[in-house]
Parts: sequence; structure tokens; C-alpha cells
Amino acid sequence: MQTLIINIKELIQIREIGIQKVSGKEMANLPLLKNAFLLIENNLITDFGLMDNCPTLPDAKIIDATGKVVLPSWCDSHTHLVYAGNRVQEFVDRINGLSYEEIANRGGGILNSAQKLNETEEDEIYKQSEVRLKEVMQLGTGAIEIKSGYGLTIAGELKMLRVIRRLAENYPIKIKATFLGAHAFPKEFKANHSGYIDLIIHEMLPKIAKENLADYIDAFLETGYFSVEETERIMEAGKKYGLQAKIHVNQFTAINGIAACVKHKALTVDHLEIVTDEDIEVLKKSETMPVALPSCSYFISIPYTPARKMMEAGLPLALATDYNPGTTPSGNMNFVVATACIKMKMTPEEAINAATINGAYAMGISDSHGSITKGKKANIIITKPIHSFYQLPYEFGSNLIESVIIEGKVI
Ligand code: NIG
Ligand code: FE
Repeated sequence: MQTLIINIKELIQIREIGIQKVSGKEMANLPLLKNAFLLIENNLITDFGLMDNCPTLPDAKIIDATGKVVLPSWCDSHTHLVYAGNRVQEFVDRINGLSYEEIANRGGGILNSAQKLNETEEDEIYKQSEVRLKEVMQLGTGAIEIKSGYGLTIAGELKMLRVIRRLAENYPIKIKATFLGAHAFPKEFKANHSGYIDLIIHEMLPKIAKENLADYIDAFLETGYFSVEETERIMEAGKKYGLQAKIHVNQFTAINGIAACVKHKALTVDHLEIVTDEDIEVLKKSETMPVALPSCSYFISIPYTPARKMMEAGLPLALATDYNPGTTPSGNMNFVVATACIKMKMTPEEAINAATINGAYAMGISDSHGSITKGKKANIIITKPIHSFYQLPYEFGSNLIESVIIEGKVI
């Protein structure tokens, strides 16, 4: 099956084979072709170029993209899309003056979601999560990471990871699963941290590994949650099962967690609303991708990741949604890109690099996703007619996507 997209106004994010990520100053460069064609065969991009060189293919399905921009679909490398119910009451409580921390200390927050998840049947969680997955696909996300972490019991964590697996089997979008048993300490382990970590390491991990339910391991490294030492135990244990770390860190406080993540060769460090000069120095000497989550900063009114400072130091940066019921009830990558431009002062070029090729790196899939490259998956966004790709973040509240192709098929 061949699909030929013709008369593309701007074909953006064209990369050579082998480019895994872009860093620092390179992020300002978003290679593009004007008046271009793109050829898809089965589920892959097989050719592209200027319209002057467009092949004649009588049997191909033709999509006319006159006036439209074509780009690789978004790579959302950090979500908690599988959950039960919602936390709308906490949203109202925050409007009325309570902080995220105060709500958590009252037994709300992650423990609230954990209770709901453990009380809900697997099929029901699947149904609720599938609605969200379908929505983000329509919003242009073509690859996504989804975490567990609202179980905090053996049965609950397995249930979440099985839902993630079912979603991966039933939908064309690429899904990577991350085990986040170390998301919070359940009430009964409040005074027995090592007991819960033992449960994660000796009970949960072996069962997860046996069913091959996770690709990565995560922990919430934060004051009041998992300490540096506790997170190191989790990362060490994950390694034994081949699970590389992707860690929540520096959301509220900087406690030298990033250095520990780098020491353990974490694939990503995520959140980074608070970043010190020492953190930047450590990241400069690593292959670890920093991941910013601007919708979370927006929703719970905390600082934005200092993207400019990090890129000026030569670091790469990825952008993701953090889609979850507590701090970011939105999986809209278009909003993330716009917010990164508006609030973090990233240029549209930088933000799109962060949401595509660097997002793919942050899921370990940049060989197959994240750019317009021959041989990569045909995961494509076609916009409505627009003046240039700048219009995407500029009109931050509009949906400018006309159609989405995942693995060669219009969804
Ligand atoms: O990434 N910070 C930790 N975890 C999630 C939020 C969890 C929740 O409040 O449910 C986050 O923001
Ligand atoms: Fe998160």
C-alpha cells in the first residue's frame, strides 16, 4: 500500500538516519523543505523531496496537502494515562488555597488515586484509559510512555501494567511501559520505608519481569517521597531486570537526585522545575535526557523548567505532557509545545525538536520515531492550511491538526 502526500507547504523535522537527539544550539535548527512530497509504503516513510522530483505513482492513494504543514507525530515520553476516576475535588481545593503538598498530607494526591485504582476492576480502568488514549492520538501523539504507580500494591501495579499492555496490543500507537511502584509510600508503610522498598524489589519486580510487563523503572525522588538512597536501591534493582531508569526528580526541591540518576545511567530525568548549576554540570557529562513537563507547572502553579539556561549550557531537552489526574489532567502535546514557547521562552523550532526527536530518545525509540527520515515509522501530522509551522504554538488554544497518520494509516 502506497500513500503519496503532495504539495506540502512545509515538511518539517527532516533528519538523517542515525540522529538520536539534538542538544543545545542545535535545537534552534528545524530542517525543512518547502513545496514537498512524502511517500509512505505500508507503515514506513520511504521517500520525500521537493515537488519537482515527485514520483508518478498511478496506484498510490494521493493526499493533497496544499497550504498545509506536515510533521512527525508527537512523542510523549512521560504520562500516567492509566488511572481510575479523577481528582476534580483537589482541583477545587487548590483554587480555594490548599497546596499540592497540603492535599497530599491529608491523604489526597497519589494515595487518593491509588485507592480508586485498587477499588476499580481492570476492565473498567481499561475503558477509562482507552478514551484518553484515543483522544491523544487524535491530538497528534504517535508514541507514548505510560507509567504504573497508582497501584502501590502487588495486585494494583500488575493490574495497571496489564492495562498498558492491552492498550499496546489494541492500538497502533507505540507504547512504552514504565514501572512506578515507587511513586509514594502507602499509609501502612509510612514508618517502614524499607519494608515497602523490599516489597517493590522482592515481590513486584520479579512478577513484572516474569510477564515482561515493563520497559523502564521510575521513582518519585523528592523530599517527603523517595530519598536519593531509596531511589538508588530502586534503580539498582531495576537494572538487574534490564529496566533502565526514568526518574521523577527536582519537581519541588533539589536534593542532588540528578547526580544519582546520572550515576545509574538513567535514560531520562523528568520534571526539573528546580534546577541548580551543579545539576546542569552533572547532566552535561551524561547521555541522560532532561524532560520538562510545562503543563504540570501550568496546572499546579509551580516554576517552569529553566529551558533556556539548560539549552545555553549545551544540554538537550525533551517535552512531555505528564498526563495524570493530579497535576496534569491533559494529554495535549500541542498545548505543551505552545506553553514551552510562551512560558519557557523556547522557540517553535526548539519546542518541536523537544517534542519529537528528543521525545523519541526519551523512550529509547529514536531509531524508528521522532523525525521525517527514510525507514522510520510513518507517524505523521497533517495540519489544516496555515501560514507556517509557527502558527501551531502561536494559536495555542486552537486545534490546527487536520489528520493524523499512525504506522501508515489515517486514524
Ligand atoms: O508527575 N510527581 C509525581 N507524580 C505525578 C503526579 C502524581 C499525582 O499527583 O497523581 C507527576 O506530577
Ligand atoms: Fe509524572
